[in-house]
Amino acid sequence: MEEIEIGDTVLILGAGSCSDIDLHELLPYVEKFLLVDKEKEAMEEAIAYYQIPKERVEVLCTNVWDISEELLEQKLESSCDIADLLNFLQEQAKKAMNQPLPDKKVDFIVNIGLYSQLNATLASLFYLKREPYGKTEREAMQKAFSWLNQQAVEKLNQWMFSHCKRALVGYEYAVFGADKKEEEKCRQLEMLLKTGQIENVSLTQVARVEGGWQAEGDLARRYRQGEISLLRDYYAIWNFLKEKQYVMQFYRIAC
Ligand SMILES: C[S@@+](CC[C@H](N)C(=O)[O-])C[C@H]1O[C@@H](n2cnc3c(N)ncnc32)[C@H](O)[C@@H]1O
Repeated sequence: MEEIEIGDTVLILGAGSCSDIDLHELLPYVEKFLLVDKEKEAMEEAIAYYQIPKERVEVLCTNVWDISEELLEQKLESSCDIADLLNFLQEQAKKAMNQPLPDKKVDFIVNIGLYSQLNATLASLFYLKREPYGKTEREAMQKAFSWLNQQAVEKLNQWMFSHCKRALVGYEYAVFGADKKEEEKCRQLEMLLKTGQIENVSLTQVARVEGGWQAEGDLARRYRQGEISLLRDYYAIWNFLKEKQYVMQFYRIAC
């Protein structure tokens, strides 16, 4: 990764098992890795897989946006009314906003594919148990999940840009295969990317990924306010699963 400078301390947010970052390849350039994820085992797998010496890595098992999935599930099981659900999400968000994040200053933070995950389980839980709720109620919940993503992104970015000098941020811009029309638009995007017509990507009216578009708005606002500088931007196709491909947007940022 050309972004990293020799001797950097590098924090990876949403590190998981680091299947998308070759820690072993980066090791000669990095003084120390700090891995942050709510899944401790996945990070330990990464350390073993890439053979990272213990003194060169710190594991921070932290839920960076802690909203109780169990409590939401209980409420959905009892088909509680929509006002109660919305109130619950608001209260939980307030709590999550105030939870401290690791107090670690580093040179570089990598944050790839995390924004879309922060409220994804909550949204899926509601989707599975949506039956008792009507159209207006479902729309209200959709809006609530978008608002939660906005809150989560603001919190993470605020923390991230006050704890590092440089960052690499990547989020899902569009997803292949949601339906036939969207698939076609994604193929168009892929063609634009392959032929280097990057400037035309944003002209394609494609369905955006929840979490990703909130991240984009928040980064744009911070850029306009002079809080961050954008050093480089690029797109890539991410083959997350065979049946699930994403168009990813990346930004290299100085703060
Ligand atoms: C799409 S994965 C990123 C890919 C990951 N780097 C890998 O290669 O496995 C998102 C990661 O974010 C983590 N994550 C999701 N929500 C989180 C939260 N609230 N707090 C901390 N980590 C979270 C997941 O556990 C997962 O490892």
